[in-house]
Amino acid sequence: MKDQIAELEQEIRDYPIQSKEELEQFRIAFIGSKGKIKGLFAAFKSVPNDQKKEVGQLLNQLRQLAESRHQELKDHLEEQETQESNLDLSRPGEVSPLGSHHPLSIVRREIIDIFARVGFTVSEGPEIEDDWHNFSALNFPPEHPARDMQDTFFIQKGEKEISLRTHTSSVQVRVMENQQPPIRTISPGRVYRNEAISARAHCFFHQVEGLYIDRDVSFADLKQILLYFAQELFGEKAQIRLRPSYFPFTEPSAEVDISCTICNTKGCNVCKYTGWLEILGCGMVDPNVLKASGIDPEVYSGYAFGMGIERIAQLKYKVNDLRLYSENDLRFLKQFTSA
Ligand code: DAH
Repeated sequence: MKDQIAELEQEIRDYPIQSKEELEQFRIAFIGSKGKIKGLFAAFKSVPNDQKKEVGQLLNQLRQLAESRHQELKDHLEEQETQESNLDLSRPGEVSPLGSHHPLSIVRREIIDIFARVGFTVSEGPEIEDDWHNFSALNFPPEHPARDMQDTFFIQKGEKEISLRTHTSSVQVRVMENQQPPIRTISPGRVYRNEAISARAHCFFHQVEGLYIDRDVSFADLKQILLYFAQELFGEKAQIRLRPSYFPFTEPSAEVDISCTICNTKGCNVCKYTGWLEILGCGMVDPNVLKASGIDPEVYSGYAFGMGIERIAQLKYKVNDLRLYSENDLRFLKQFTSA
């Protein structure tokens, strides 16, 4: 009897069941009123008395095993069935939420695109910079007050003092050191200034530097590229005006305004009733800068310009608080989703 029970137990465990029909066969074969377990219970009478207790227990366990296996498989098959009947192959797919490009990335790409169309390449340089590339090679003499204008973050590294670059003009020097003219390149990147954070100033922001060096490059070429840029970015009606200015690395230097994108020079509160908005600094590359970077100023000349990406984004999107660009507030960022 014990052998029979063991055999039956194995049979129950191995019984293959894939469908409801097979499950029903299983029930009839083992649990039903004419099933094998019932048969064993019937034969129980003839088990010798001294074995009845042990065999009885084994028989009960066998019955429990068959019943629980039946229940388990029944649940499993039912679950499968409901899953299958819920499967609607014609249902539209679930839309995954789309992220958005950061407004500064959108503007940076647009600027790169505009200059790429007229042959400018993109160059990059390190954010941790040495004095030579950030200042000296750009014609800032050691004690020159213009260095103070830049509120530099200095880092002491052993004997050497290095800094976080205060402008992307440092990349000009790196490009000229590694390449002879003709050079036509722009350098987008992050820059740092030791400023108290407010709506109008931040300790880091982004710039795009432009550089064009060749034979006979003139101030007229500079004006032309700036007008092209302003009109590509703000539309055909955009005008530019240049005001004399000072930068150590350009001579002559100018600051460039565009006609107010809101009132088109009539005067409004965005341009503070001047009709114009300042967008960048520029000039003819100082011969000292060419010399310092290994380019002969007797043969070559060139222009350079530099602009803040936040400033352009501010004009394009009317964002008046610089802090919004780095706070990662989704309510702000989501507004640029389809751009
Ligand atoms: N480097 C200047 C700044 O950070 C911007 C600039 C002005 C760059 C004039 C130029 C330039 O290349 O010609 O304020």
